[in-house]
Amino acid sequence: MNLIVIMELLFAMVTGLSFVGCKQKQEASISIKEAYAGKFVVGTALNTQQSSGIDTAAIQVVLHNFNAITAENCMKSEVIHPAKNRYDFSQSDMFVDFGLKNNLFIVGHTLVWHSQTAPWMFVDGKGSYVCRDTLINRMKSHIYTVVGRYKGKVNGWDVVNEAIDDSAGLRNSLWMKIIGSDYIELAFKYAHEADPDAELYLNDYNLYQPGKRNVAIKLAKSIQEKGLRIDAIGEQAHYGLNPNVVTALESSIKAFAETGLKVVITELDVSVLPFPTKKITAEVSLEYENKPGFNPFANAMPDSISLKQSEMYQSLFRLFLKQKNTIERVTFWGVNDEQSWRNDWPIKGRTDYALLFDRDNKPKTCVHELIGIAATDGQKEISFQKN
Ligand code: XIL
Repeated sequence: MNLIVIMELLFAMVTGLSFVGCKQKQEASISIKEAYAGKFVVGTALNTQQSSGIDTAAIQVVLHNFNAITAENCMKSEVIHPAKNRYDFSQSDMFVDFGLKNNLFIVGHTLVWHSQTAPWMFVDGKGSYVCRDTLINRMKSHIYTVVGRYKGKVNGWDVVNEAIDDSAGLRNSLWMKIIGSDYIELAFKYAHEADPDAELYLNDYNLYQPGKRNVAIKLAKSIQEKGLRIDAIGEQAHYGLNPNVVTALESSIKAFAETGLKVVITELDVSVLPFPTKKITAEVSLEYENKPGFNPFANAMPDSISLKQSEMYQSLFRLFLKQKNTIERVTFWGVNDEQSWRNDWPIKGRTDYALLFDRDNKPKTCVHELIGIAATDGQKEISFQKN
C-alpha cells in the first residue's frame, strides 16, 4: 500500500468519505432516518421485489435509511381485489410482514382511486354501470376487508387518492359519477370503522397550487364537520427542477395546518427530465411520445443537473424542517433511480434520476447534504443556480 492510498484511507475513516479510483464517492455515515429523528418520519415506497426480499441491495438501503414504508402497487384494488369474489393478499401480506418484522411505520396505499381500480368494481354482469347503492356496498366491503385484514398492523391509509382534478374541481371519476361527492366521506367513515386506530389521509398531487389547495381544505373540513376521522392531507410531491414549487408549497402547508390537520409528503421524487407539456400534472393516465430531446441523459446525469436536483431537494427539506410541527412524514416514491416510476411516466422508457439513491443503490451527494441540513435544522442557506 503506498502512502497516498494510506492517506486516503485515513481521510475516509475520519470523514466518512471513501474514494473510488480518483473519483470521490461518498458513503453516508449516519442515515437519513437518524438525521431526521425527532423531526419527522422518513419513508419510501416499496415494490414487490423489495418487500418479498428478492432485491437485497435495495432492502439494505431501506433498512438503513427509512423508518416508514408505503405499498407502491400491491394494495391497489386491481392487485388486491382483482375479481368481485376474489381477493389476492399474497403481495400485500409480504409487504405488511416486512414492515412488522423491521418495525417500520406501515402505510396502506390506496383504498379509493380512479386509477388502478379493478374494472369489475363499477359494472354489473352485463357490463353496465352499477347503481349508487351497489357501488357504495362494494366500496364498503372492499374497505372493510382490506383495512380489516391489517387492523392494528397498517398504521395509516391513503383513503381517497386524487379526488381533485387538474382544474381544481372534484374529479369526475366513476366513484363520483355513480355515487356522488359523498363517496369521499363514506370512504373515510368505512376506513375508520374497519380500524379505529389507523391514521387516515386524503392524498392528492400538486396541492401547492392554490386552486387544488383550497378544494383539499374544503374537503377535509367537510369530513371533520361530519365528525369523521381524518388525520392529514397527503401531498404526493412528484416534482421537477422547479424551485418556485417550494414557496407555493409553504403556503399550502401553513393553510393545511390552520385546519388542525397534519401534512404528510407521500410520494416525493424530483424528475430531472423535461416535462412534455407546459402544464405540470401528475395524472397517471397521461402518456406522451418519446420525441428527440426528451431523454437527454440516457447515459448519465451531468454534474450541473445533479447539483440542481440536490438544491431542489435541499430547499424542500429546509421547508419540511421549518414546518416540522405540521409535517409528520416525508416518503419518497421508491428507493433508487432504477425502479422509479418516473422512468416511464409521462413518457415511457426514459432514463430519469428522480430519487436519492442511484442505480447501484449508492447514495447521491445530495443524501449527505440532506443529512447536513438536518443537523443545522435547515438554517444553512443555499442559493439556486441560474439557468
Ligand atoms: C405509480 C406506480 O409507481 C407505478 O409502478 C404504477 O405503474 C402506476 O402508479 N400517484 C400515485 C401512485 O398515487 O399510486 C402512483 O404510483 C404514482 C402517482
